[in-house]
Amino acid sequence: MRKIIFPVLISFLLPITLFAGGGMWLPFLLGQLNEADMQSLGMKMTAEDIYSVNKGSLKDAIVHFNGGCSSSIISPQGLLLTNHHCGYSAIQTHSTLEKNYLENGFWAEKQSDELPNDNLVATFIDRIEDVTKDILVGVTDKMTTKERNDKISQNIKAFKKAYAKKKYEDVLIKPFFKGNQYILFVTITYTDVRLVGAPPSAIGKFGADTDNWEWPRHSGDFSLFRIYANKDNLPADYSPDNQPLKPKHYLPISLDGVDAGDFTLVYGFPGRTDEYLPSYAVAQIQNAIDPARIEIRDHALKILDKAMRNDPTIRLQYASKYARIANYWKKWIGERTGLIKTKAVEKKQKLEQEFTRRLAENPELNKKYGSLLDDMDYKYQEIELLAIYRNYFHELFFRNIEIFKPANSLRRFLAQANEENYDQLAGSTKKSLQAFFKDYQPAVDRDVFKSLMQLYTDNVCTAYFPNYLLEERFLEGYDMEQLAKEFYDNSIMTQPEKLYQLIDDKKTDEIKKDPVYQLFMDIVDAYRTRLNPEYQAIKAPIDSMQRRYMAALMEVLPEKKYYPDANGTMRVSYGQVEGYLPKDGVEYLPKTYMEGIIEKYVPGDYEFDLPQRLLDLYEAKDYGPYAENGRLPINFLGSNHTTGGNSGSPVIDAYGNLIGLNFDRVWEGTMSDLNYDRRICRNIMVDIRYVMWVMDKYAGAQRLVDEVQLVHPKAGQKSSKPWDGQKKRKRRKRW
Ligand code: ARG
Ligand code: GLU
Repeated sequence: MRKIIFPVLISFLLPITLFAGGGMWLPFLLGQLNEADMQSLGMKMTAEDIYSVNKGSLKDAIVHFNGGCSSSIISPQGLLLTNHHCGYSAIQTHSTLEKNYLENGFWAEKQSDELPNDNLVATFIDRIEDVTKDILVGVTDKMTTKERNDKISQNIKAFKKAYAKKKYEDVLIKPFFKGNQYILFVTITYTDVRLVGAPPSAIGKFGADTDNWEWPRHSGDFSLFRIYANKDNLPADYSPDNQPLKPKHYLPISLDGVDAGDFTLVYGFPGRTDEYLPSYAVAQIQNAIDPARIEIRDHALKILDKAMRNDPTIRLQYASKYARIANYWKKWIGERTGLIKTKAVEKKQKLEQEFTRRLAENPELNKKYGSLLDDMDYKYQEIELLAIYRNYFHELFFRNIEIFKPANSLRRFLAQANEENYDQLAGSTKKSLQAFFKDYQPAVDRDVFKSLMQLYTDNVCTAYFPNYLLEERFLEGYDMEQLAKEFYDNSIMTQPEKLYQLIDDKKTDEIKKDPVYQLFMDIVDAYRTRLNPEYQAIKAPIDSMQRRYMAALMEVLPEKKYYPDANGTMRVSYGQVEGYLPKDGVEYLPKTYMEGIIEKYVPGDYEFDLPQRLLDLYEAKDYGPYAENGRLPINFLGSNHTTGGNSGSPVIDAYGNLIGLNFDRVWEGTMSDLNYDRRICRNIMVDIRYVMWVMDKYAGAQRLVDEVQLVHPKAGQKSSKPWDGQKKRKRRKRW
């Protein structure tokens, strides 16, 4: 009797009790750590279907897109799907006023129309191995941080040299769990990646900054590329003779859609998370670091916004700069709100209390780790102001005040130039300066300078001021009007033609005498000789304590599940299609539809305008096979743990088919980088049926629709293992 009832009970309880959610897992360890959990959530695949070195697996369709985004292969001819915002700069590069692909979209009619791109690469992962033993050989607990780091770099170098790999493979070795583990990735990077298709921005970026990081969402954030290879199907630089890549695997596309509770798997390359900080470090981000960064960008954005509203030229010039600054500004506000709302600091404190209690029960562990939390606390207090100043440095001088950008290009140019390379470097420097000046408004920047330098002199300790401000201006106090006048009225950084002439005439001394150039050199000097050394002197012991704390957590609280922080390497997250409760009295449903796009439509608005063709197709309800009960699905939510870098990640169903495309997170849940909370952390995905509808009905890109494999797994189409389906297809069609 028992034997029968028990499993039934368990299968009911499992999803609720075991799945705490969260985690960015290493694909080669899923069998050990996650398979049962994933299957309890509805997954019908095995871990081996997701990652295998012995046969084709999902892994072989997952591509790191130009090092920063994720993407996937969706056809036997190397067709690659990623986000519109990931393909953005490639699309922009090919755009001109007459052929404005950003605004109107782009669809290559035939393969020969697909557009090659300089500096765009696509990287596959061939295999993953744990090499901790080899990399930590000869490393002891007694070593200083520097000795340890030196030994590890030495070991990595030696290991890479001895490692057997093919000519076209690269080897990447990265620290995991704060340096307690080392993992090797063998990669294959293709360098001929061509633009195939992109929707207009009004679809790809619908909602722009207002909707960014928010739900409900209605964005068609996708673009299509194709990987080309040489005749041996291996990486080769662009050549007209290259052929579309024949991938080891590609993702079939499910037209059956998603419902609340469906299993979802996000496969990609998340960039950076910090889930194992102590409570006071999280409090520091919440109460000191995020507020400082938000305040700086607040000031800059207000000035840009006003200028953009008053002048259409400025709006065009500053739209993408504004979006870039606003993206993380908004993220940090959400992160702070979410940390407070979910009581992240208290949660960490409770964990630390339990940790300390267990240590008290175990003299041996106590001896090893007993002082760790207090020691780290002390160091985090010590680093707080320096960390804020460092943010000021990066935010002001490398991001928000623009006049330092040409100063920095010139600094690099003058540091490298000699008699032999002068002309060549001058050429590339002028090219980057021209790109900068094309979208530069000194008057706007001057206001940003005044506003941010006021914040800077108010908030940063004078000990880290650049010499000029410290020595020559200190006594007079800082009148921003006067400072701005001095720099903006007298600098060649606001006079491009004069500047190019000086470069051509090799009058480098005159460039070096420029007031902005000199101020920038002072800034760099203050950073290099004062701020950064002091910061690093505290950061190094913090890093080594964080490494020991990570090991301590795993040893002292072994019953918890640990996953390594994101570090730009290949990971799997999984969860379910799921809405959430953003605030009291409000429930968000997990799916949006075409009707929502129409609700948001504002003719002529730069964020919410729509192409006439989309409106016409909506009127005609021309949704083809992509509709769900007569409505066209647009975006959906899931409880997959993702972060920056996961943009463009394929979202995969229980059987291994493509159902969506990851592109964002919800605002209240952006604190998942520090504290994933199943209750409100959600990732936002484009429904693959909307992607297909845009390709098919909106763009009429029939040749691309014919290229992909459409499946109906829910309708009982049992060839669910994607590679089974592909084998069948292979016999029918030659490719
Ligand atoms: N928030 C998303 C991601 O970090 C999308 C950013 C691009 N889209 C935008 N509207 N700015 O990075
Ligand atoms: N848009 C982000 C990216 O570019 C993904 C959103 C997130 O941070 O989760 O990677």
